[in-house]
Amino acid sequence: MITSITPNLKLSKEPLFSAQEIAERIKSLAAQIDRDYHGQEILMIAVLKGSFLFVADLIRAVRTPTIIDFVRLASYGSATQSSGIIEVRKDLEMSIKDKHVLVVEDIVDSGLTLESLRSMLLNRKPASLKICTLINKQSQRITDVPVDYIGFSIDDGFIVGYGLDLDERYRGLPDIRIVAGV
Ligand code: PRP
Repeated sequence: MITSITPNLKLSKEPLFSAQEIAERIKSLAAQIDRDYHGQEILMIAVLKGSFLFVADLIRAVRTPTIIDFVRLASYGSATQSSGIIEVRKDLEMSIKDKHVLVVEDIVDSGLTLESLRSMLLNRKPASLKICTLINKQSQRITDVPVDYIGFSIDDGFIVGYGLDLDERYRGLPDIRIVAGV
């Protein structure tokens, strides 16, 4: 969650990842997921809010039978960094026991959100647990949480669009852009 907004913000004119690049990458990820799951039913767990567009496209791209549930997590911190304090604002509605769970995230940054979610989910005894993120910011990682499927990797920079926000804004952009001034 962004708690402050810096004046003089500017979005990059050119997208970092265009809508077409995102769509193509999702197609490849879906093919990889289909190969790995061999037709076993997947329970996608989308982490709200940021993953809402990604999961909507991913679930339509996979051919494997898939059911879906949502969690809403919020991390607190400064404008650009998580404090590691993760709050579950909305828990799952389904039991994940003996299900093949695939967590779907928009971005993994420090990894603290995922680490906390992963241990919560493992306690509920799924048949398997994998993680898929659209964006991986490996350089910011302070945990060794395993990420199984990665859309794009970036080193640094604050990005918005395609679900990702700055103070709740820009989630609806069809592509991903860099914010200057953060
Ligand atoms: C973002 C993102 C991840 C988390 C990643 O969520 O969606 O869940 O931060 O950061 P981390 O790896 O450093 O823990 P945010 O709390 O901004 O909520 P949102 O999804 O509603 O935008």
